Order: sequence, then C-alpha cells, then structure tokens
Amino acid sequence: MIYNIDHVAIAVHDMDEAIDHHRRLYGAEPMWREDVEEQGVDEAMIPVGGSFVQLLAPLADDTPVGRFLAKHGEGLHHIAYAVPDIDAALDELRSQGARLIDETARTGGRGAKIAFVHPATFAGTLIELVELPDE
Ligand code: CO
Repeated sequence: MIYNIDHVAIAVHDMDEAIDHHRRLYGAEPMWREDVEEQGVDEAMIPVGGSFVQLLAPLADDTPVGRFLAKHGEGLHHIAYAVPDIDAALDELRSQGARLIDETARTGGRGAKIAFVHPATFAGTLIELVELPDE
C-alpha cells in the first residue's frame, strides 16, 4: 500500500523564522511554499532525498495546526505515506478497523489527494496518506 515516505511534518509558530533556522542548520531550502486555505496552514516543502520535510505554520489560531501548537507546542506533527491509490488505501484501513479523520480524500498542497488517519489508530502518531497527482 505504501511506497514512500512523502514527508515528515513539523509544526512551527513562525514560518519565516523556521525556514531561516532550517537553512542555517542544514543548508536546506524549501522547494515551494503555499497557503493551503482548506487546512488553514502555510506549508513549506524542503526536499530531502526522495522525500520532504514539511514545515507547517497555522494561518490562524482556530485551525488544526493552531490548536496543535496551543496544546503541544512546536514539534513533530505527522508522517505522510505516499500511496498509489488513496481510495483503496482508505477502504483497506477501514476494513482493518482504523479510525479515520477523513472518510474520503480531500485536496492538499501540490494538488495531491490526502486523508488523515487518527493518532489513536497506531502509536499516537498522526498519519497522512498522500496520492500525488500524475505528472
Ligand atoms: Co502533510
């Protein structure tokens, strides 16, 4: 079902500062950055090998990432698995009794189809499924 770690996401308060900090520490540049209004986030994707580190900053306090920061502070937010067929992956997870945050896929950054699996499903870790658009 999974063929890659698409990205590992880190929640931050201040995106500009986080990008500068990450650049200084690791010499890594975001490949792109965009506001994803549907999720209430400013996201920056930093390429690392065949995957990305995704920095996430909330567009407002009353958003999922805003609430996460208020509760947990900055840090690891989720791991995103690339899947070839997100609808099939959701069906499989449902059949395994997984608790899904998104029953159906929605649109995320890069025009990808995404869906989140509740942290209660496995080891307290929020998992995002990503089906990338055809090139
Ligand atoms: Co993500």
